[in-house]
Amino acid sequence: TFPERVFSGVQPTGNLHLGNYLGAITKFVALQDRYDCIYCVVDMHAITVWQEPEELKKTIREVTAAFIACGVDPKKNIVFNQSQVPQHAELAWIFNCVARLGWLNRMTQFKEKAGKDRENASVGLYAYPNLMAADILAYRATHVPVGDDQKQHLELTRDIAQKFNNDYATSIAAHGYGDTFFPLTEPLIAGPATRVMSLRDGSKKMSKSDPSDYSRINLSDDADAIAQKVRKAKTDPEPLPSEEEGLKGRPEAENLVGIFAALADRTRADVLGDYGGRNFSEFKAALVDLAVAQLGPIGAEMKRLTQDPSAIDAILADGSERAEAIAVETLKAVKDIVGF
Ligand code: ADP
Ligand code: NA
Repeated sequence: TFPERVFSGVQPTGNLHLGNYLGAITKFVALQDRYDCIYCVVDMHAITVWQEPEELKKTIREVTAAFIACGVDPKKNIVFNQSQVPQHAELAWIFNCVARLGWLNRMTQFKEKAGKDRENASVGLYAYPNLMAADILAYRATHVPVGDDQKQHLELTRDIAQKFNNDYATSIAAHGYGDTFFPLTEPLIAGPATRVMSLRDGSKKMSKSDPSDYSRINLSDDADAIAQKVRKAKTDPEPLPSEEEGLKGRPEAENLVGIFAALADRTRADVLGDYGGRNFSEFKAALVDLAVAQLGPIGAEMKRLTQDPSAIDAILADGSERAEAIAVETLKAVKDIVGF
């Protein structure tokens, strides 16, 4: 009964990489013709860990440029940054009062990001999933394209929506909003590269914050950097298997095959049909060609776009205005419902 709407976000924390591209941004482009889409640079999430102000400002523009360079159309969709729409923070506070401590205590990303020094993590890092729920539900979005790492947070968003709908059921009905106010948002996690792993360690996800530059391919990498990183990528001594079964217990091989398949828009089985029995040096050379052909023009376009910061700021200002027009309506209703 809810109109279909897509929402997703990427943090402006630098080092946009192949995982962000395959797990999220390529999906944004694929969905833009079929859905009403809202794509957000989630700068308020970024400051859950320290960000240098000058650098943050630059990275907000860089992520916006990456969206556009990858093919996200800011006219067809809403492209904006979170901090410019105050309703995200407003709704997040209400969700802080809906979500339970026990729910947040189960979030594995907090445990990973806080590390050993948990007492010293920001309260924001802990409450981050509530803000993410607010990002999505301020627009009553029905679908969220994300990588596999966000699955648990999406489940929490559904729990929050459901508890709000239940706790306030009487008030929701009394104010004429029917019997459910928030949709139970579905994640869109599909394809051969929903979890791209580090090129140095097949047990860790490719991440912006990995200290090793060789662990990830960045969208801003030139052809030489891409070639070097792929050549240095960890593999095992066996040739490639000819069937998917043979990837079991070989995380690095599995990762490279998944990346190849996603870039080529084919299945892993197809890729193994071509490369089964061949050695990694041959496969890696083909992967370099594929990655350079696809990422090279994106990196160049990002560079071109970031040379005109005011043009990017204008896109964000326009998007923020359109986003706020929707979020204002949601918050008006939420306040009625809550009794403010
Ligand atoms: P990061 O986790 O690198 O800091 P974000 O949290 O900003 O990046 O995530 C932006 C989007 O990219 C999310 O949809 C997330 O699920 C996706 N993503 C991040 N890392 C990966 C990865 N290694 N593989 C697939 N998708 C990923
Ligand atoms: Na993430």
